[in-house]
Amino acid sequence: MSEEVNFVSIVEENGERNTRRAFLAAAGAAGLCYTAALAYPIYRYLASPEEMALSATAVTEVLLKDAQKIPAGSVLMYKFGTRPALLIHHQDGRWISMTAVCTHLGCTVQYEAQADRIHCACHGGVYDPYTGANVSGPPPKPLTLYKVAVGDTGVQISLT
Ligand code: FES
Repeated sequence: MSEEVNFVSIVEENGERNTRRAFLAAAGAAGLCYTAALAYPIYRYLASPEEMALSATAVTEVLLKDAQKIPAGSVLMYKFGTRPALLIHHQDGRWISMTAVCTHLGCTVQYEAQADRIHCACHGGVYDPYTGANVSGPPPKPLTLYKVAVGDTGVQISLT
């Protein structure tokens, strides 16, 4: 008689253990899903600059159709991969292209034709519009120049 009671007692104890184990497994799985749901956007946010840099370096040349038609003394903003860039047609006929990403903190720079300079409005950085050299303000390095080939149907820009 006492053996039967013990058997029932053992079954109930095992059933309770199985229920507890199943609950803990479900809670653990839910916790993992919750953690993954929180971590993925953070991962994407942190990985994005690296992925952007990789995609920017993957592009080695860009063809700007009909860009040969822009008049002397003007500029065309375009994207080299994912990054903004400048194509300047100077008054003297020279074509110069360079990145438009400031080397200080990454703002987009602008060509100012009347002052014949490249200016960063964020902190007043100034660059030479022919060489990309940093001439005043906080930028620590020059802008990266691209190779320019002007053709009949467009302008080919490529890494130097
Ligand atoms: S980001 Fe261009 S000068 Fe600071």
